[in-house]
Amino acid sequence: MTITTHATIIDGKAIAANLRKKIAGQVAALKEMFKLTPGLAVIIVGEDPASQVYVKNKGLAVTEAGMQSFQYTLPATTTQQELIAKIELLNSDPKVHGILVQLPLPKHIDEKVVINTVSPAKDVDGFHIENVGKLVTGQKDALVSCTPVGCIMLIKEVLGDISGKNAVVVGRSNIVGKPVAHLLLQENATVTIAHSRTTNLHEICQQADILVAAVGIPQLVKASWVKPGAVVIDVGINRVTLSDGATKLVGDVAFDEVFEVAGAITPVPGGVGPMTIACLLTNTLKAACTQHGIKVPAIS
Ligand code: GUN
Repeated sequence: MTITTHATIIDGKAIAANLRKKIAGQVAALKEMFKLTPGLAVIIVGEDPASQVYVKNKGLAVTEAGMQSFQYTLPATTTQQELIAKIELLNSDPKVHGILVQLPLPKHIDEKVVINTVSPAKDVDGFHIENVGKLVTGQKDALVSCTPVGCIMLIKEVLGDISGKNAVVVGRSNIVGKPVAHLLLQENATVTIAHSRTTNLHEICQQADILVAAVGIPQLVKASWVKPGAVVIDVGINRVTLSDGATKLVGDVAFDEVFEVAGAITPVPGGVGPMTIACLLTNTLKAACTQHGIKVPAIS
């Protein structure tokens, strides 16, 4: 008898939908008890089509959760000074509890300066240096970036406690790799940060009970890199062109082959992506409560 095993597919879409429903319930309670409607402002500069889709989806999710959505589409020619002036207006707008500046920004604008102009209390992306510092030093009131938080939720959904597990993060970006590594460390995992220049990357990955791929290289992680039974979280979103000229979204993991080896795996799309939006709503709710001195409801 041949027994074939394959991974459980982690349904990020369903887990995120459940989370969004809970957030909507909390927002309704906040309106009822405190007459407070959380508001999120999203700024997009330029016309990058992928960014436009992300921003539209964020706005729809915010409205669906019962929050107020403010969207600002600025031309690609917007100066850094003009963008900063807009952020400063939003920093002092009491209806706006969260501010998100969609990245990437046009080349003539310094992202670091822009990110650090957002008030740390409204920094629902968790990119401000103050929130990054709080994450690294383990302060609970940090606003932490959304994709990493979503990854941890998915991992815990499968494993529960991850204390003592070997976690390997492939990728070292400020948006995903570094913060997800710190969150894993907070959960008492043993964490290795690897990247595109790591020597013997596949051997490092083979040690992982938890493998987070966030390196932006299509289908880099192969079945032979994956420890049987490992939990594989694929953060990659890469558009590749097929031989017939059509395009397709793929992750940083060669899904079809890794599926045969892993214990659990996120699909692309429908894995990490929906969690990012759900966590953005959580952060907006948290920011609104904190700004009004209201105890932040526990949502998980
Ligand atoms: N661009 C890609 N991912 C993100 C994100 O999480 N936040 C922002 N602001 N821009 C992004």
